[in-house]
Amino acid sequence: MMRVQDPTAGAPPGLRLERLTLRYGARTIFENLDLQIDSGAFMVLLGTSGVGKTSLLKIVAGLSAPSAGRVQATDGRSLAHRIAYMGQQDLLYPWLDVIGNVMLGARLRGDKPDRARALHLLGRVGLAERAAALPAELSGGMRQRAAIARTLYEDRPIVLMDEPFSALDSFTRARVQDLAAELLQDRTVLLITHDPLEACRLGQHLVVLSGHPATIGPPIRVHGPTPRALDDPELLRTQGHLLRMLTELEPA
Ligand SMILES: Nc1ncnc2c1ncn2[C@@H]1O[C@H](COP(=O)(O)OP(=O)(O)OP(=O)(O)O)[C@@H](O)[C@H]1O
Ligand SMILES: [Mg+2]
Repeated sequence: MMRVQDPTAGAPPGLRLERLTLRYGARTIFENLDLQIDSGAFMVLLGTSGVGKTSLLKIVAGLSAPSAGRVQATDGRSLAHRIAYMGQQDLLYPWLDVIGNVMLGARLRGDKPDRARALHLLGRVGLAERAAALPAELSGGMRQRAAIARTLYEDRPIVLMDEPFSALDSFTRARVQDLAAELLQDRTVLLITHDPLEACRLGQHLVVLSGHPATIGPPIRVHGPTPRALDDPELLRTQGHLLRMLTELEPA
């Protein structure tokens, strides 16, 4: 079993979101939002469509600026080059083959691409045979798996993923969730999903974004090692709790 690890890294930094506010024109999406993700924690963010999850993740990734507030690493150092981000759209480059897409970050940084590792990760997401294919030749779920391999290849201490498994059938989804749980074990992770079962299989802290402007409710703590088995009593207990919370939410 391969462990993707940066030998120079100790414990990954945690993330502190401080008084984040986002306005689009006259609309306030969220205001004075605070959230802490501890070092090495796997946090899952849920919430109805349109509530502001992607907008929040992009701010954490440094891809867009908040109207006010800030995001900091808990070790006080800069977040630059320490975050891997997988967007809601897979964002593969259409003119690069699959393996070229996986190693794109290395190429852009001028690092020597590690083809063996890229191929290994493609194998783990079931795409070893398609390494030379162009994105347009893949199904939506295959493109998503290629984007997951690229995110894991990046090998950063902080990993942000926006509905990474949404296009996968339930069998492939469970397999790729297992892989993510294994490879992200010693990272600080913030993952968005609409799937309560996925949240409860993978997450240690579950948070729900809701309301206008949106706020984050108190985290639900899920104990024990991940990925959790489907009949794990802790999973079943939390899933019930979460489903009750989600069904009480207003549409965004
Ligand atoms: N660049 C933008 N300009 C103006 N409004 C935007 C922009 N991006 C997002 N919005 C609006 O902000 C709100 C939150 O969008 P966001 O994509 O963050 O939602 P989400 O929670 O990720 O939804 P989903 O679950 O459907 O992905 C939506 O009402 C959306 O229309
Ligand atoms: Mg979204």
